[in-house]
Amino acid sequence: MRRHGIEEGHGAFVEGAWYIIADASAVGKRPVAVERFGTRIVLFRDERGALVAARAACPHRGADLSLGRVVGGAIECPYHGFRYAGDGRCVAIPCEGRSRGGGEARARGAGDALALTRFEAREHRGFVWLWWGERRAELPPLPWFDGMPPDERHAHTTSVAWDVPFARAMEGMLDIHHVPFAHRPWVPGVGALLDPYEVRVEGDVIHTEGVLRHDDGEPWDGRRGWKFAIEVRFPGMLRLSFGGRMAGMAACAPIDAGRTAILARYYMPVPVIGRALAWLGLLMEFWLIQPGDERVLASSEPRDADVEACRFVRADAGVLAWHKMRRAWLKAQRAEGPRRLPVEAG
Ligand code: FES
Ligand SMILES: [Fe+2]
Repeated sequence: MRRHGIEEGHGAFVEGAWYIIADASAVGKRPVAVERFGTRIVLFRDERGALVAARAACPHRGADLSLGRVVGGAIECPYHGFRYAGDGRCVAIPCEGRSRGGGEARARGAGDALALTRFEAREHRGFVWLWWGERRAELPPLPWFDGMPPDERHAHTTSVAWDVPFARAMEGMLDIHHVPFAHRPWVPGVGALLDPYEVRVEGDVIHTEGVLRHDDGEPWDGRRGWKFAIEVRFPGMLRLSFGGRMAGMAACAPIDAGRTAILARYYMPVPVIGRALAWLGLLMEFWLIQPGDERVLASSEPRDADVEACRFVRADAGVLAWHKMRRAWLKAQRAEGPRRLPVEAG
């Protein structure tokens, strides 16, 4: 597969950040598996309903725990039935038996060797958030956007996987002047001139704002054209505003070096039919429009990209700002030296 053609140094994951990895409502009584950062992760709920994220490979002999079941808040491996509590401890080894001092007692004695590798995860705003990076005494707060609706009553959430590296997926999200070309059948009449266009960087936030309009040789009259604003909370959180009442956000996270998962949510604060409208908006976006993005991004060479891989123009300022930020983060990561990832949750 072409994803193996990624150049040396590319495809590194940005560490020390929160990523949205799943729709929390998908994690119910059954365990759920997601693949992120080249790691298969199982999500389940402990006896209090709190979310647990752990490496999916069973510590015993590696079977995928997501194929098992949850019993009393512990995940049971589908292979030999070993059970692991939400705190990661192995609490049952059925083949050892209770009467022979095995089972639970022996499992307790098994200690770290048979414990789950857990990740820092949170449930917030209906999403599962994963901390990808070394454990710290205090983790930064979960990033969110100002001015978003207070709850998910009028929202719909969906997810897709793109056969596109993370940096290219983020380029696609931050880019606006592709719209009249890559989405031509769906947005007839949108102009190709991006003017005005403004990009501001504040800490790890990139604000972009502009108007896509027809090039009539005149300065912008303040009215005509298609207004948009995109805000990025580095590395992968985006708020998307394209006029109107719909508020949208998307969160990207690497599946592995060559693929990206996108969770997107639209809010339509309209009584009764708001959620249905949000669903419809997302349906159009992800089944009609976004396949055009994936197609061009997957076709782009080099497969992954950074500051040097492209020849940027003024209208790429948002994309360039993201690449610069990524380069600075990766440089700082490398300077900190080799780390052990993933690090177990406390
Ligand atoms: S592989 Fe999981 S219990 Fe044996
Ligand atoms: Fe697009």
